[in-house]
Amino acid sequence: MRIAVYPGSFDPITNGHLDIIKRASKLYDRLIVGVLDNSSKSPMFTSLERKSMIDEQIKDLPNVSCDVFSGLLVDFAKQNGASVIVKGLRTVADFEYEFQMALLNKSLNSDYETMFMMTDSKYSYISSSMVKEVAKYDGELEGLVPQEVIIKIKDKIH
Ligand code: COA
Repeated sequence: MRIAVYPGSFDPITNGHLDIIKRASKLYDRLIVGVLDNSSKSPMFTSLERKSMIDEQIKDLPNVSCDVFSGLLVDFAKQNGASVIVKGLRTVADFEYEFQMALLNKSLNSDYETMFMMTDSKYSYISSSMVKEVAKYDGELEGLVPQEVIIKIKDKIH
C-alpha cells in the first residue's frame, strides 16, 4: 500500500493546497494531510480549527484523511506507515527552501522520499499569509480559498 503525507501549516487551507491534495490523492492509496501544530508561528486558527476546515474539504475524497501533528515530520510519516512526503512547488523561489527540507528529512530518515508536485499556475501566487493579509483589509477572497474557509476567516476577523 502506497501511503503519502502532505504536511503544512494550512493556516488556512487554500485552493492551491486543495489542488495538490486532489491530484496527489490519485497517485497514492492513502494520503494523510498533516497539520503542524506550531505555536511559534502564532497562527490565525488553532490546529483543530485548521483540521476541521480541511476535513470539510476532503469529505468526498475517500482515501484522504487529516491529522494534527507536532514534532518531526519524519516521525509523523513513520507513525502513519507513509514512505512518501508530498510537497507543492509554486515558484523557483520555493525550490531552494524545499530542497533543503527534503535533504534534511532524508538525513533524519533515509526511508522517505519527497515528491514535489508543481502547483497549478493559477494558484502559484497564493499563500496562506497573503490570504490573511487580503482578508485583513477586506479584500476579495473568492478564488483564493474555499467558500467555507472564507466564512471562517470573516468570523475570525470580525
Ligand atoms: N498552494 C498555496 N500555498 C502553498 C502551497 C500551495 N500548493 N504550498 C505551500 N503554500 C504556502 C503555505 O501556505 C505557506 O504559506 P505561509 O508561509 O503564508 O503560511 C508557504 O507556502 C510555505 O509552505 P510550506 O513550505 O509547506 O510551509 P508550512 O509552514 O506550510 O509547512 C512544514 C512546513 C510543516 C512542512 C515543516 O515546517 C515541517 O515539516 N515541520 C515539522 C518539523 C520538522 O520535521 N522539521 C524538520 C524538517 S524542516
